[in-house]
Amino acid sequence: MSRSAHPAGPRHADVYPEGHYTAPADDLNALDEKVWARTVRRNEEGVVSVGGIEVTRLAEEFGTPAYLLDEADFRARCRAWADAFGTEADVFYAGKAFLSRAVVRWLKEEGLNLDVCSGGELTTALDAGMPAERIAFHGNNKSTEEIVRAVEAGVGRIVLDSFQEIVRVAHIAHERGRRQRVQIRVTVGVEAHTHEFIATAHEDQKFGIALAGGQAAEAVRRALKLDGIELIGIHSHIGSQIFDMAGFEVSARRVVQLLAEVRDEHGVELPEIDLGGGLGIAYTSEDDPREPHHIAKSLTEIVTRECESANLRTPRISVEPGRAIVGPTAFTLYEVGTVKPLEGLRTYVSVDGGMSDNIRTALYDAEYSVALVSRRSDAEPMLVRVVGKHCESGDILVRDAFLPADTAPGDLLAVPATGAYCRSMASNYNHACRPPVVAVKDGAARVIVRRETEEDLLRLDVG
Ligand code: LLP
Repeated sequence: MSRSAHPAGPRHADVYPEGHYTAPADDLNALDEKVWARTVRRNEEGVVSVGGIEVTRLAEEFGTPAYLLDEADFRARCRAWADAFGTEADVFYAGKAFLSRAVVRWLKEEGLNLDVCSGGELTTALDAGMPAERIAFHGNNKSTEEIVRAVEAGVGRIVLDSFQEIVRVAHIAHERGRRQRVQIRVTVGVEAHTHEFIATAHEDQKFGIALAGGQAAEAVRRALKLDGIELIGIHSHIGSQIFDMAGFEVSARRVVQLLAEVRDEHGVELPEIDLGGGLGIAYTSEDDPREPHHIAKSLTEIVTRECESANLRTPRISVEPGRAIVGPTAFTLYEVGTVKPLEGLRTYVSVDGGMSDNIRTALYDAEYSVALVSRRSDAEPMLVRVVGKHCESGDILVRDAFLPADTAPGDLLAVPATGAYCRSMASNYNHACRPPVVAVKDGAARVIVRRETEEDLLRLDVG
């Protein structure tokens, strides 16, 4: 029996939740460059454009809801990460944030590597021509079939997540006469300052092998004995949407300490460490993310310093940003269907998407911003909650925001910073058809993931 009833949605009737910003922005027509993709502008008539195309035209051509992705911005962010880390380190884009064949081609062209965490992501990567040696394969419970495919494809590294997997991968590679390059994922006991569901490096969780109790040292001992694998390094990922580098500092220190122990016990200096992803982005104007060159400088300094004090050669560093690359490059375009003022409370603005295209607000209490993008308005600000069209009161996209008081059915709204973990976590709840991803660049727009249709739904339903 469940301990408590819940009204088909986690939260109700909190008019001003804690930490709620009570003042609207000075100008609701202004677009804060922190949260919007780089080519987003509002023109003289007040219509917003991306990649040189107005959202009104994009809505006409591709419909709503739609994820609009600024390809130039995506590529620029890839280059910024690659340049920041230079030739002495490797950047692996975390495909779980958003992956498609077009994205794989952009990554390849911009010189990035790719982290995949399932057979499906691996297939997408290989199909789009990512060289296998530039792929890292992750996951806490990879199937035998997935491991076989990864080994046979010749992926650059498999990140081992458990004692069973050390033996499994070694066996599969050995049987095929291969020596698979691997890293061991360790949990360093750091809980990054973020939502509990997405913090991953504290010990009470399913990922990795704990440094505590000598477990990780034991994993290294076992891995070094097996012919089928070549242990190239240690991996750690401490969480998501992190702004404070202190967590990485502790994590790097503990990983380097393990490298020193390995050197002392086995006389082997493991050549690589991977510090994972998790770097935060701005979802609202309140967030202040760091630039890639700051992150690179700070991570490199931490690792170099720790290695010097342990008298170790500095290993090659890799990182796995997902959200920080793709997150800010896209926004979701919706059309307003209904506007419902609740006297003394707030106004509910319903759009034609919802929790099926962005589950993050319902799942993590994520905060987003929103803007009226099909026209300029000088009406007074009104406190709104932007909700979707699903049969669930927790179907909230933006919990608290201000929109012009004349916002009306037919207006287009955009929610920025939805490039990461929105399309990739989209669902068919209520038999919704998942929206397309449209890449826009230099005045040209093309669909890179098409809109799902009701036919697609029926095709899976074999009757
Ligand atoms: N590397 C590993 C091993 C990971 O597990 C992850 C994310 C990343 C890299 C990329 O993290 P990023 O830089 O994108 O934060 N669905 C959640 C996030 C889950 C992240 C899981 N792992 C969300 O919507 O916030």
